[in-house]
Amino acid sequence: MKITLSIIKADVGSVGGHIRPSQRLLNRVQEYVSDEGKGLFIDSFIGSTGDDIAVLFSHAHGVLNESIHKLAWDAFMEGTKIAKEQGLYGAGQDLLKDAFTGNVRGMGPAVAEMEFEERENEPFLMFCADKTDPGAYSLPLYLGFVDPMHNSGLILSPKMAKGFKFTIMDVAYTEGDRIIELNAPENLYDIAALLRDTERFVVESIHSRDTGEQAVAVSTTRLHNIAGKYTGKDDPVMIVRVQGAFPATGEVLSPYGIGHFVAGFMRGSHVGPLMPVVQGSPISFFDGPPIVSCRAFCVHKGSLTESVDAFDHPYWDYIRGQVAQKASDIRRQGFSGPAMLGYSELEYGGIVVKLEELDGKFRTRKVSS
Ligand code: F6R
Ligand code: MG
Ligand code: MG
Repeated sequence: MKITLSIIKADVGSVGGHIRPSQRLLNRVQEYVSDEGKGLFIDSFIGSTGDDIAVLFSHAHGVLNESIHKLAWDAFMEGTKIAKEQGLYGAGQDLLKDAFTGNVRGMGPAVAEMEFEERENEPFLMFCADKTDPGAYSLPLYLGFVDPMHNSGLILSPKMAKGFKFTIMDVAYTEGDRIIELNAPENLYDIAALLRDTERFVVESIHSRDTGEQAVAVSTTRLHNIAGKYTGKDDPVMIVRVQGAFPATGEVLSPYGIGHFVAGFMRGSHVGPLMPVVQGSPISFFDGPPIVSCRAFCVHKGSLTESVDAFDHPYWDYIRGQVAQKASDIRRQGFSGPAMLGYSELEYGGIVVKLEELDGKFRTRKVSS
């Protein structure tokens, strides 16, 4: 059976700053989706990660389906009404357009979708990250799909022997989707050379070269490409199918033990380590640290099983302690050097204005010989 998984997520308001949506707001989005979506989708799941609400649909309508996208958009609009009623911070902030037009791409919400022929057993992972951007997934995807140090299946399983095809997007390009397809392992160094730049080149999808099937879909939305200026970080979502011709769940999770440094953190303008957390976790230290959640499901004839929180395990408590240490370490150098992002990635224009003012006050002193 051919099914589609769609994750659509938005921040439409949160309690106490950019911490977490209110329970009433979450309930309203959930209620709207189940009341108005009857007969449209097969199954759904709703959860929050930091200040973002993500809705997962399983359905039979393919990617970029207008009815599915409109349902999510309308649910977020309904949620915004509650956010305004309750006076939540940033009510409706990710809904950048006044009217819905066809699908949510380019309208503010992040979307990751994939249509595929369901395998007999179809396990998959739903990733949601907050206080960061889509480039945050690049290193874990690289390591989980091409590096035997994390993915032992590349050596052990004949099903992965041919490697994977990476589709990488140049997210700085705004005229259309500028993409390149590169094969691992042959083009490994080319893939690494691009993914090094997490703010410009982002993994959009990964396919098995053995079966041709799609394993990964990442949201590549860049809010500042839509609004012309930063209106928030592009907290990304991702679907990863696992096992069989794809990496095992634990191989996909393994690189999150690094707590690698990503863009985001306070005011979307700093660098911080990515902390794997339980879904529903709020945001705290320095409006961060950047977080990622992962729920594991199986889907059968479009019906979702109960989900398991993949980062709810004593091992990840140990990692969280280490990541907290890394977060404290980089925060000790405040605004200096690599602790803060370069100008083009800052969420605020204030510093540019400040530098223009200061530029006029510079004077050039003659060098005496
Ligand atoms: C992401 C997030 C941050 C904010 C940023 C701006 O979820 O919340 O990236 O967009 O901190 O915040 P305000 O709007 O308070 O200036
Ligand atoms: Mg926010
Ligand atoms: Mg957010």
